[in-house]
Amino acid sequence: MAVTISISNQKGGVGKTTTAINLAACLAAAGNETLLVDMDPQGNASSGVGINPRELELTIYDVLLNESPAREVLLETPVERLYLLPANSDLTGAEIQLMDHQDRLSRLSDALAPIKDHFKFIVIDPPPSLSILALNSLAAADKAIIPVQCEYYALEGLTTILDTFERLRETVNPNLDILGIAMTMYDARTNLSQQVVEEVRRAFGDQVFEHNIPRTVKLSEAPSFGKPIIFYDFSCKGSAAYINLCQEVLNRVEKESAGQRFGRPDREQTETAVAEDGGTAPGADRDAEPDSIGEPAG
Ligand SMILES: Nc1ncnc2c1ncn2[C@@H]1O[C@H](COP(=O)(O)OP(=O)(O)OP(=O)(O)O)[C@@H](O)[C@H]1O
Ligand SMILES: [Mg+2]
Repeated sequence: MAVTISISNQKGGVGKTTTAINLAACLAAAGNETLLVDMDPQGNASSGVGINPRELELTIYDVLLNESPAREVLLETPVERLYLLPANSDLTGAEIQLMDHQDRLSRLSDALAPIKDHFKFIVIDPPPSLSILALNSLAAADKAIIPVQCEYYALEGLTTILDTFERLRETVNPNLDILGIAMTMYDARTNLSQQVVEEVRRAFGDQVFEHNIPRTVKLSEAPSFGKPIIFYDFSCKGSAAYINLCQEVLNRVEKESAGQRFGRPDREQTETAVAEDGGTAPGADRDAEPDSIGEPAG
């Protein structure tokens, strides 16, 4: 049965899609049958793995609104063991159409249920905002990874998403867990990046993944070639970062399935950190060499 991970943050441009594409590709390269689910009408996750969103007959829209079975809509990608439930601008209208459905928040979850046995991991890329599509993504997930950009006001909005998790746990998804917080677009040369990482670690402790994702040009240009970073330039810093993040994800999932569940973030501590005016101690730059996943073929 697949572990379903939603890469969620209602803030725009924090690295959700970049993380979804590259984590999914690394999980596949590590030998896991993986499904990437594009829940954003922008279709960036689809194009980022080499599928042209404008040339699709069926998309996630048909799964959510036209009763198309997910197994008939999913596509192979150029990456071995990586499959895609694609999206394009058709999905733009879904928000309003879903309003009329009583099961509007569990549409994705219900659609993925019949194919969960075929995959080891399902990685969902939601749109920004806390729209019905974004909530569907969290309702379908066992775990969430929250990407946080290393910038001013990084913690702003985190309490909102934690409140959303709480509401979803009380309603449609009692099992929703936070797998971890991923610090994205980290620039080791700036004090700001270091301070932000320190501040988020102070609030969330071990829930923050050890490896930060560096800001690199390669990570921003790989999608225009339709390639996850490890297939675009295996030896670059961005590849190392996502391979290391993937290894941490695998370790955490394994640990949790062994029954050692993570504690929930301390809400009071979080709120204090949000209210405070930034930390000062430098955070460690952990952009190390990849640990264990070998170079992908092709
Ligand atoms: N580590 C990185 N280094 C450099 N550029 C990055 C990095 N991560 C993301 N980007 C770039 O930043 C922009 C936003 O990233 P991305 O699309 O992954 O964010 P998002 O949270 O999915 O955005 P949206 O909320 O619009 O869906 C993109 O142009 C992407 O290429
Ligand atoms: Mg995105």
